[in-house]
Amino acid sequence: MASIPIESRRPVENSPHLADSHTPLIRNAWYVVATSEEITREPFGRDVMETSVVMFRSTNGAPVVLQNRCCHRSFPLAKGMLEGDSIRCGYHGPRYDTSGRCVEIPMQDKVPDNLRVRAYPAREHAPFVWAWFGDPAAVDEAALPHPQWLGSPDWDFYLGYLTINGSYVHMHENLLDLSHLSFLHPKTFGTPEYALAPVELTANGTDIQVWRRVTCELPDIYSVPLQWKGMKVLRSSGSQFVAPGLHVNSGILKNLEILEAEQQPIPLVKVAQIITPETRLKTHYWFAVCRNFARNQPEIDNFMRNAQYAAFAEDKFAIEQITRLKELDRDSDGVERHIPTDAPGIAMRRHLKALSDLEGASRQ
Ligand code: FES
Ligand SMILES: [Fe+2]
Repeated sequence: MASIPIESRRPVENSPHLADSHTPLIRNAWYVVATSEEITREPFGRDVMETSVVMFRSTNGAPVVLQNRCCHRSFPLAKGMLEGDSIRCGYHGPRYDTSGRCVEIPMQDKVPDNLRVRAYPAREHAPFVWAWFGDPAAVDEAALPHPQWLGSPDWDFYLGYLTINGSYVHMHENLLDLSHLSFLHPKTFGTPEYALAPVELTANGTDIQVWRRVTCELPDIYSVPLQWKGMKVLRSSGSQFVAPGLHVNSGILKNLEILEAEQQPIPLVKVAQIITPETRLKTHYWFAVCRNFARNQPEIDNFMRNAQYAAFAEDKFAIEQITRLKELDRDSDGVERHIPTDAPGIAMRRHLKALSDLEGASRQ
């Protein structure tokens, strides 16, 4: 990884070239719409990407994602019923197939061609289902960001979910910013040494990641499952923007008081941070926390999940307050000043803005 010493990067002032909570959402991308478990033979509605979708499984088990709003009088199709591979609106009874085409209207012989709801291409990679909200002709299979390790038998994982009343741009910025661990999370994730550790940054186009390496005692979330409480550990933490709908955090934990040969495999943590805008100001947030240690121990899952929720509640608070204050005081949006540790977030915001502008230009 070619890294740029963060200290050498000059702070950049707020700029129209950076995405913020009012930048149009990026539609030509994959976003998680549900966990695999949520999609069943019962229609299920959720608001995502400034629209509402209904989800269900077809008779062959494939996930189907359709516009939730019936094209007759906008009744939610999620309140309708499945009939084989079709869904019948619960208001006046038309039936739509899995492509969104209306195939039957009660008491009418012919169905006009323009009676249809949108169908969103969906792909399942357990434990999540992803959908594409952009131009169907531009579906990019290679851009689906599901990480191979998520759901692999080589890792144990647990899932969590929070609704954030805040912008997904601020979520990404928070996740790329390791400098907040010591202050926002002093009792959950952070240790005082974190704030002083040098940062290695990569910001080459779409490759945006940041790493910190700190010798410290681990917070309980890791020291308890590893039984390393009070021991000195080299903790390497990485944070990587992958796509508008995915961010990955990595942790490598090396105990400095135990011979390396006695701690094989080296404990690793990977967190898939799944970020799906509901609107520009509200975000679905799933997290899948994967580990290669303390395996097959449901009580460790519970312990770590509870600690994770406590920490992420602190991020939720921060992002919601940031969004609220910026909305309240939009006239002085330009007062934000950057400091060197913001560089990864700035690179990410520049990238999101460029993607959004590109889509806007292609619509004109
Ligand atoms: S609203 Fe769905 S059929 Fe009338
Ligand atoms: Fe955080």
